[in-house]
Parts: sequence; structure tokens; C-alpha cells
Amino acid sequence: MKKISVFASGGGSNLQSIIDASEKGMLNAEVALVISNNSSAFALERARKHGIKAIHFSTKTHPDPAIYTQELIKLHSDMKIDLVLLAGYMKLLPKPFIALYSGRILNIHPSLLPKHGGKGMYGHFVHEAVIAAKDKESGVTIHWVTEEYDEGPIMMQRSIPINHDDTPDTLAARVLKVEHAVYPEAAALVLSGQIRFPNRFTEK
Ligand code: GRF
Repeated sequence: MKKISVFASGGGSNLQSIIDASEKGMLNAEVALVISNNSSAFALERARKHGIKAIHFSTKTHPDPAIYTQELIKLHSDMKIDLVLLAGYMKLLPKPFIALYSGRILNIHPSLLPKHGGKGMYGHFVHEAVIAAKDKESGVTIHWVTEEYDEGPIMMQRSIPINHDDTPDTLAARVLKVEHAVYPEAAALVLSGQIRFPNRFTEK
């Protein structure tokens, strides 16, 4: 069985969708590790409820950057993690970690990248920008995480129409629902080797 680690800073509803998909046998993989930079993140509690190893890992727990990176890598190698999923994770990963897991790290973003991405574009800021831009559609992007971070190649997108009476909150709620469906699908495609970085379909 393949092993996934999930990085989450907040509520972890996307983490929950991955755990649920795994428990239903949709991924052929288990969530083996959950990491949060925030010791009070509900994501850690969700993980523990499912018996998943949940670790608070931050510059507070590991103030020395070299040791921080070394420990993160060691944890993943010792546990033989196959795929890393970022789900509402607010910190940058160390470059050597990204290099080691190249082609095996995904992130989810609640807009149709490259629109409304980049620095400061997270949570409600994204949906506020989408509404302010009077876009006709928004959606979800799953992309590979590279050292350039938000600019990694797009793996999968799903769009939804924006209603004339949408507010950032109503839009956020609809996008989040799509996130919960799309992230497990994307993870399953990568885990089964059907989609590979950089988005090449395998030939049989
Ligand atoms: C999601 O909208 C995700 O796309 C973004 O942060 C939010 C996390 O929500 N990167 P949750 O913690 O998974 O509920």
C-alpha cells in the first residue's frame, strides 16, 4: 500500500476528503502522516481521530533551518512516503525537500490558476479577488509543486460558473465542495501512475 503525507495549516477539510477516499479504498493508498505548522490546527485532530501520525512541525519546534529540513526529509524517508499533498498549507517547503520529492508533491488552489494565485492569495482573499474581477467562472486547480512554488505545472482544473449574486463566502463554499471531490481524484491518478509529472500520460 502506498503512503501519503498531507501538510495542512488549518481546518483540514481537504485532508478529511483524502482520508475518507483512502478509507473507502478509492486511492489504494493510506494517509500515513499529517504535518502542520500550527499546533492547534484542527487538521491534526482529524488525523489523530483516524489513528494517523500527526505532527506539529514548525520553526518553533525546529528553529535551526538545517535541522528543520533534515528532520522533514528523514521523517518522510523513514516512513517511505510516496506522495506529498499540500492542503491549505501556509508555509513554503524547504528546497531540498521539494527536490527530493520532485514530481510527487501536489498543491490545491481555490481558483483557476494562473488567475488569482501567488503571494497573499489564499483563503478568502482569492474569492474576493475573483468577485472583484467580475470573472464569469472560478474553480479549483491542482498543480505540481516545484521550487517556483505556485508556478508549478497544472495537473488538473475544474471550473464552476459564478452566479450574479455570489459573494466571496458563497463562492468559497461552492469551490470548497469541488475541492473535496477533485483532490482525491487527482491523488488517485498520480498514485496509479496514470498522470505523471509533467502531465505525461503513461503509455501501455
Ligand atoms: C482550501 O480552499 C485550499 O484550496 C486552500 O486552503 C483551503 C484549505 O481548506 N489552499 P481546508 O483546511 O482543507 O478546509
